[in-house]
Amino acid sequence: MNIFKKMSKQKVKCVGILTSGGDCPGLNAGIRAVCKVLINNNINIVGILDGFTGLVQNRVMHLGPRELSGLLTIGGTILGTSRNKPYRMPLDDGKYHDMTGAAIENYNRLGLDCLICLGGGGTQKNAYHLMKEGNINIITIPKTIDNDIYGTDLSIGYDTGYSIAAEAIDRLHTTASSHHRIMLVDIMGHNSGWLALSSGLASGADVILIPEIPYKLDIVLEALIKRKEHDKRFSIVVVAEGAKEFGNDEGSENYDKKQRKHKDKEKHAFIPHKKSESDVLADKIEKQIGIETRVTSLGYLQRGGIPTPTDRILATHLGITAGISILKGEFGIMVTYQNGKYSTIPLKEVAGKKKIVPMDDQLIISARNLDICLGD
Ligand code: F6P
Repeated sequence: MNIFKKMSKQKVKCVGILTSGGDCPGLNAGIRAVCKVLINNNINIVGILDGFTGLVQNRVMHLGPRELSGLLTIGGTILGTSRNKPYRMPLDDGKYHDMTGAAIENYNRLGLDCLICLGGGGTQKNAYHLMKEGNINIITIPKTIDNDIYGTDLSIGYDTGYSIAAEAIDRLHTTASSHHRIMLVDIMGHNSGWLALSSGLASGADVILIPEIPYKLDIVLEALIKRKEHDKRFSIVVVAEGAKEFGNDEGSENYDKKQRKHKDKEKHAFIPHKKSESDVLADKIEKQIGIETRVTSLGYLQRGGIPTPTDRILATHLGITAGISILKGEFGIMVTYQNGKYSTIPLKEVAGKKKIVPMDDQLIISARNLDICLGD
């Protein structure tokens, strides 16, 4: 029986959908799921291109059964994405403008009864802003490989992100052991250590450094020397992009402070051409303990390609939860996965917050029990 057929008392006729922030595997699976629920209930869908930029510029695509077909396994987002915010939109004059009014005008012009936003922490904030300013119906679906969205235990893309990273670290193991080297791996995650911890734990890393635990250099060196003394002739060190040395809030010493300021404003953490914390740490390790040390930065590989089955299922359940909420006329919410259940949380409670790794998280407990050095 099609349960959605029973829910036809809705007033919603047309829904817009956009993806915003960094892309990740599973976005298309989420789009597919929520749109299928809506289509089954005769609701029209307008795909908005390139995040909030498309809403401001009124650039859209039709989303019907044909467009939704074959999406489940495809990475990225068919809608395109951007990190632009409605209230700080770069325009042709090279300056940023508040385009909230234009976004709301286009929402009304398109005849939307609701806007679905798939995105990370920044998107939750931008969606909430739009909702308040325009008094419009918004529902969000959490996605980010960083898994740092407040109010949900899991976000779309995380499982794929850490699976890719774990597989890469597995491959580094073989070359590390053959060459008797220390291998540092630079892992994304913005200001949280979820991705580094889970990939490091899954791949048997010896040291894992995360932003939540500023590391002490002597503790890291001690752990590496101890391994050598125990005849372990290689080590794997996982370094989260936001990791920092204790007492050094700026992160790596070669960090360009101007860039950092810009980065904080824009909430961009990954600056590929800059020396990362792993580069800085690798130099220190090699100099101080004399073991050949190499750095590998996985960068955007971590959020590319096909989603894992776990992410496809998460995206499907979250998408369906969003679709059902729309049919029930529940708006101003983010769909979530918490304590093994799919539900919703008011957007007001999510906007502007982030979920860092708590010190009593099982990932930390297990890492400590395995004697993995966390740098403290
Ligand atoms: O938010 C996901 C993420 O991959 C972060 O881990 C990283 O800091 C950031 O995106 C980099 O993305 P971009 O270069 O697209 O801003």
